Amino acid sequence: MTTPRPRTRRGLAAVVGGVAAATLAVALAVPASAAGSTLQAAAAESGRYFGTAIAASRLNDATYTTIANREFNMITAENEMKMDAMQPSRGQFNWSSGDRIVNWARQNGKQVRGHALAWHSQQPGWMQNMSGSALRTAMLDHVTQVASYYRGKIHSWDVVNEAFADGSSGARRDSNLQRTGNDWIEAAFRAARAADPNAKLCYNDYNTDNWQHAKTQAVYRMVQDFKARGVPIDCVGFQAHFNSGNPVPSNYDVTLRNFAALGVDVQITELDIEGSGSSQAQQYQGVVQACLSVPRCTGITVWGVRDTDSWRASGTPLLFDGSGNKKAAYTSVLNQLNQGGTPVPNPTTPGPNPTTPAPNPTTPAPNPTTPAPNPGASCTATYSEGQKWNDRFNGTVTIRANTDINSWTSTVTVRYPQRVIATWNGSPTWDSSGNVMTMRPSGGGALAAGQTVSFGFTVQHGGNWTWPSISCAAS
Ligand code: XIL
Repeated sequence: MTTPRPRTRRGLAAVVGGVAAATLAVALAVPASAAGSTLQAAAAESGRYFGTAIAASRLNDATYTTIANREFNMITAENEMKMDAMQPSRGQFNWSSGDRIVNWARQNGKQVRGHALAWHSQQPGWMQNMSGSALRTAMLDHVTQVASYYRGKIHSWDVVNEAFADGSSGARRDSNLQRTGNDWIEAAFRAARAADPNAKLCYNDYNTDNWQHAKTQAVYRMVQDFKARGVPIDCVGFQAHFNSGNPVPSNYDVTLRNFAALGVDVQITELDIEGSGSSQAQQYQGVVQACLSVPRCTGITVWGVRDTDSWRASGTPLLFDGSGNKKAAYTSVLNQLNQGGTPVPNPTTPGPNPTTPAPNPTTPAPNPTTPAPNPGASCTATYSEGQKWNDRFNGTVTIRANTDINSWTSTVTVRYPQRVIATWNGSPTWDSSGNVMTMRPSGGGALAAGQTVSFGFTVQHGGNWTWPSISCAAS
């Protein structure tokens, strides 16, 4: 961990001049005039950006643009630069809505993430019906034309979006693009590099946050292979759409760190977390903390401004409420950014020599944020589903020591009306609500780096099938 940069008190003099002494005392007690009083300023303290998705249709809404302009310095078009928007008819490009967003960003001194050049979804109708070499040619032509048009204006391009399947297969997602041949992704990256040599080129996906998931591992192996073979890739985007069924994983920092060790930047590209209040705030804080702990995690983008602007509005997943007020999640993100982070190295582009062996994916780097007495002690908890019945289900938590550890504890939080009715292979204690179980080893808890141990439990679900959230701490 590095020491946070000293806070400046810029702007305080102006406040002092015009207010009574009573107000002054408050102003001094609350570091509201610290360097990071907006998300972009706070992120910039450690060399990172903080962005949002913007919808062209909302650029006439003054509340919206005021917040967006004040808080964010990286802009992604929510839909306006996708394949269907850019090339509605074959060979006829419509730049107008993309330009509205790019121009708004640049006029306000902001950078732009391009999203997305090649994707199975939101293809124009004419492309959806294509296949084989004709589709391959059309896709590469689209990449070339769009990346060339915006050349010099794009910080990072999502060159390929969501090309891997969910679940345990680790396979590519079936799509018309995938059926043109497994090398379609690298072909798209080479075309993008030729068209805009200065934009960073990213692979972007979701459900790649938990290091243990097969999809995460599969994307990791692709990036490792691309780096080894010199395919031009500079960054990996983690969409980070979370909800109670898909919570922020406790090993997020391990994932980001392992990808970064391949010699790419990592970015949180579409962050939103369904929920409210302090639980939502805590999860947001965890994501920010994970990014700040990884030097090559260069920025975070949230997927919209206010809850009412969100594609998942009913889940109230963003940092501002529908009236534009800051939510608890906003404050926790701002405070966490103001804690400082490992600075982003400058410049971030050059990766290690492609012949340098990549780290073994099963050996995550030690977590530098874990405190003494065993400095660096770190573990990862992974949940796996067990047997299911009408009224209950089993779950197993596997604790993996990332370093040599003396012991561990793991918390398992279930959601009302769920109840843990049985456990095995551990010694549980409970908080007063009965929802949070702390599991400790039933014997000695020492594990060597790489060793795992598992405990299990039965949840009586009462109709709520949500997975418990889990975490672990090592000493
Ligand atoms: C979403 C937009 O937010 C919606 O407005 C649209 O209807 C569908 O797409 N992954 C992505 C984004 O990469 O482009 C998606 O955006 C959300 C999931």
